[in-house]
Amino acid sequence: MNPLEQELHQRNLPELMRQNSKEPVETPAQWERRRQEIGEILSREFAGFPTRLACRSQKEVVRIDRDSYGGKAETQYCELKIRSDFSSASVPFTLTLPKGSSPAPIFFYLAFTPEIADGIGEEVIDHGYAIANVCYQDIAADYFDGHMTGLGRFCTRNPYDSWGKLRIWAWCMSRIADVLLDDPGIDQKKTAVMGHSRLGKAALLAGAFDTRFGLTVSCQSGAGGAALLRGKTGEQIENLYGKGSRLWFAGNFFQYREDLEKLPFDSHFLLAMMAGRHLYVTSASRDDWADPRSEFLGCLAASPAFECMGSMGLEQKGRYLQPGEFSHKGDIGYFLREGTHYLSRDDWKHVFAYRKQHQI
Ligand code: GCU
Repeated sequence: MNPLEQELHQRNLPELMRQNSKEPVETPAQWERRRQEIGEILSREFAGFPTRLACRSQKEVVRIDRDSYGGKAETQYCELKIRSDFSSASVPFTLTLPKGSSPAPIFFYLAFTPEIADGIGEEVIDHGYAIANVCYQDIAADYFDGHMTGLGRFCTRNPYDSWGKLRIWAWCMSRIADVLLDDPGIDQKKTAVMGHSRLGKAALLAGAFDTRFGLTVSCQSGAGGAALLRGKTGEQIENLYGKGSRLWFAGNFFQYREDLEKLPFDSHFLLAMMAGRHLYVTSASRDDWADPRSEFLGCLAASPAFECMGSMGLEQKGRYLQPGEFSHKGDIGYFLREGTHYLSRDDWKHVFAYRKQHQI
């Protein structure tokens, strides 16, 4: 074992490549079964199950700016209408399509703000990508509201396994995919879902439960995201139990806050849900609360599932990276940016490079 493998071994993680019945997982068909089991575990013990109401989604275009970004793109200001027999909701989002590269690969971007900042939006367009930008607060407000706002109302809250906000935000990204993927301006085969921090956690859930997202990008997602919880420094489950984040998760998750050893999964289960597709994780070297090393180790621990699906997983298996280094060859890409917790231009640039290299 190399030192990193030893470090992983000491974290004493639950076994990824064994069915609940203890049979080993060695073939893609066995992995598919295992993936279903893991999806159940993550829903029950961590993120919560989504609403079971049958819902219909529709896109309404409210206004079009045919010359956004100095004429390089078109931006549609849309409303996502979601209806069940009992509830309805309307979530605003923008869709920006670059001119001259149709159908365009797309970012489904779960954002902190309703509109993407001009500079970075322009970078996205100039690289030839479309971007659907949705502000998470418009999906379900991020405060201790007992799930009484936004899409939270689509599911009766129980203290055990009904969806937390992360799952709600993730589920809405799938509803946006429902209404956009047959748009002739969008390349359905090149779809990424992306978010930063708490939204990096939500992006992982979106990619985990919806295989239409070919690439999942999770930036500095930390605890409840890419970082292994066992052996993690910085934020712990106990901290997530604070009122600012308690509703992000299913209630069941918090039974493990003083008993981490009993947690029936760790972040490698979540990351491995993307096996057979692509996953990109970024960390920041001085983001001690998120714990970059545990994010990297989560990727390493998820790699066997990707290998089982015939890809390399994380290429960088022998040593941890230095700030500024990246590992782009595998179907799990990783970038360790130098610095602290924020979504940097540098993170975006590395995501563009990874997408270009893998043609996703
Ligand atoms: C807090 C929280 C983190 C989260 C972050 C963010 O720091 O503790 O879990 O990732 O906010 O979303 O910015």
